[in-house]
Amino acid sequence: MAPSNTHNSDQKPGHGFIQGHSLIELAKIHKTPLYVYDGNQILTNFSAFEQAVSLLDSKVHFAVKANSSMAILSLLSKVGAGADVVSGGELERAIKANIPAQDIIFSGVGKTEDELLLAMRYNIGQINIESGPELDKIAELASMHNLTCSVALRVNVDVDPGSHEKISTGQNNTKFGVSLADGKAEEYYQKIASHPHLRAAGLAVHIGSQLTNLAPFEKAYIALLEFADHLRANGYDVPCLDLGGGFGIDYENLKQPDFTEYGMLINRIFQNKGYRLGFEPGRSIVGNCGMLITQVIYVKQGIDKRFIIVDAAMNDLIRPTLYEAFHQIVCLNEHESETGIADIVGPICETGDYLARGREMPLVLAEDFLAVYSVGAYGAVMMSNYNTRPEAAEILCYNENVHLIRPRRTITDLIEMEKNPF
Ligand SMILES: Cc1ncc(COP(=O)(O)O)c(C=O)c1O
Repeated sequence: MAPSNTHNSDQKPGHGFIQGHSLIELAKIHKTPLYVYDGNQILTNFSAFEQAVSLLDSKVHFAVKANSSMAILSLLSKVGAGADVVSGGELERAIKANIPAQDIIFSGVGKTEDELLLAMRYNIGQINIESGPELDKIAELASMHNLTCSVALRVNVDVDPGSHEKISTGQNNTKFGVSLADGKAEEYYQKIASHPHLRAAGLAVHIGSQLTNLAPFEKAYIALLEFADHLRANGYDVPCLDLGGGFGIDYENLKQPDFTEYGMLINRIFQNKGYRLGFEPGRSIVGNCGMLITQVIYVKQGIDKRFIIVDAAMNDLIRPTLYEAFHQIVCLNEHESETGIADIVGPICETGDYLARGREMPLVLAEDFLAVYSVGAYGAVMMSNYNTRPEAAEILCYNENVHLIRPRRTITDLIEMEKNPF
């Protein structure tokens, strides 16, 4: 049975609608593969997150890596979202989307000199330092260019988030943050606090993405708080604790993210502690607000398997290939109730090019449209041109309007980007 479409209420059986717009009609107009986002749902999620943490002095910074569409960033900027960025490119996007520089946090283990200087020149709110060499580099650049910047120290609290290993960042065997285990974190914080060109903004932690259990958050936040209190007890100014992102979404049952218990946990741990709090949610804000619409090219009966070959591939959505991620997939066309097991695969010449394997599906036919659910985060941002395939187009439905926010490039566009010396 097809899961219900959580993106809107006025859905007809067997069909998908976003904000009253038929996905099939959108697919016919804009061709497939096509990302379709629900802008109203994005704002609902954002305000639900803000609300959940609103009892304490807090600021929510949308993690741009989850979806860096200019239209979506601008929409979030209008409701006061800050941004968490991980590259100079994302920083430029956030600035262009009118997110105030002071509301931008720059995270990441390998910020280059150019990126650090860019951030300092924009005078962004906070640069999260992840290592001793990065601290030395930022101190040197700030002195050399006579700039001052706010720096937080991202700590590694050695907590297993219980998520997929490729998106787990909280343990000492990962490249992220400065471990609390060997005294270096305090040494670095002391360096930040005493440097004439650096302002100590506080501490940051982010243990991973798609956490579906609150226990690892709790463990990580308590470790962070203990260290922050220790620093304060030793006379350091620790104004802010950046609690990262990571809140997981329900890919299987498509339930709306509910931040209530997370908010209660935050209150329980941080109330009356006197820290300003920062948050960097990405997936939980946009993940359930996007669908990828794809058309069936062929249905192929193999020796022991049926393959539904569609026009979206791993270059359009790499999550199933990269993380063995599960996405609900429904057929938007009406069919009898009979179903069969099939792999849903793309046209790319890799066995790893699939959207789903062993999935029970209606007996779909060539030219049917399928909707791949919950692709609003880490979907379009990871698109590539592998096999010289232009990226999927992107559409945003907002307040009954349909906006083409990223037109599809042509194959000529792709080829002409290159320089051919012969
Ligand atoms: C530093 C940092 N902050 C925030 C996020 C956003 O995480 P999520 O999309 O799971 O909320 C990430 C992604 O893993 C990250 O690396």
